[in-house]
Amino acid sequence: QKRKIIVAIDGPAASGKSTTARKVSGMLGYTYIDTGAMFRCVTLKAAREGLLEKVHREPVVIEPLLSSLTIEFDRDRVFLDGSDVTDAIRDNGVSREVSFISSLKPVRDRLKEMQRRMGDERGVVMDGRDIGTVVFPDAELKIFLVADPAERARRRYAELESKHGAEGLPSPDELEQEIIQRDRDDRGRTHAPLRKHEDAVELDTSALSIEEQVDMVYRLAMERISA
Ligand code: CDP
Ligand code: CDP
Repeated sequence: QKRKIIVAIDGPAASGKSTTARKVSGMLGYTYIDTGAMFRCVTLKAAREGLLEKVHREPVVIEPLLSSLTIEFDRDRVFLDGSDVTDAIRDNGVSREVSFISSLKPVRDRLKEMQRRMGDERGVVMDGRDIGTVVFPDAELKIFLVADPAERARRRYAELESKHGAEGLPSPDELEQEIIQRDRDDRGRTHAPLRKHEDAVELDTSALSIEEQVDMVYRLAMERISA
C-alpha cells in the first residue's frame, strides 16, 4: 500500500488546471476536486436567490445562504443542494460575478472548511487559486500553472466553440480582456489572493501539449509518493 499525497494545482484562468488535474487524478486513482466549481456554485446560488445585486452593497446577505449550502462531486458532474448544475455554473453571468463572490471572507471560510474535509484522507488532486497557499499548505506536491493570456484566450475560445458553436460567442479578444480582468481581481484581493507558494513548481504551459503537461505533473507526483 503506497502512501497517499495531496496534489495542489493553482494558477490563473484557463492555464490548464482542470484538464491536468482530471487526467492526473485518473492516473493516480485519486479524487479530483475542482474548487473553482465550488465558488461558481455559491455564485449561482446567490443569483438564483436574487441576491447578486444586493450582495455588492451589503456583503453580509451572503451568510444565510452559506449555512444551507451543499456541494457534491460525482464523476464529472457537480451537484448544488442536490441538483445537477454542471452546465449552469459555466454560464457567462456566473463567470462575470464569481471573482467578486470569491473575494468575500465568509464564502472563503466556508469553502475552505468543506475543501479540507474533502481532502482529509489525502489521495486528492485539488485545483484552484489558493490550494497550495491556504487550503493545503502542507500538500506534498504544489504546482503553479501559467500561460500567456492570448494563448489562454485562444484555448477558452476553442473550448466554447466546440461546445456551443461559434454563434453568439465573445471574440478571442473579449475573452482575453475578461481573463486579464479576472486574474487581476484574483491577484489583488485581500483574502487568499492568487499567488505562487514558494515551494510550488511553476510550469509555463503556453508551448506545451496537454499530454506533456500531464506527464510532467504525473512524474512529479510519483516522485513525491515514493519520497
Ligand atoms: O476555469 P476558470 O479558470 O475560468 O475558473 P475557475 O477555476 O472555475 O474559478 C472561477 C473563479 O473562482 C476564479 O476566477 C476565482 O475568482 C475563484 N476561485 C477562488 O477564488 N479560489 C479557488 N480556489 C478557486 C476559484
Ligand atoms: O482549469 P483551467 O481554467 O486552468 O484550464 P482548463 O479548463 O483545464 O484548460 C483550458 C483549455 O485549454 C482546455 O480546453 C484545455 O483542453 C486547453 N489546453 C490545455 O489545458 N493545455 C494545453 N497545453 C493546451 C490546451
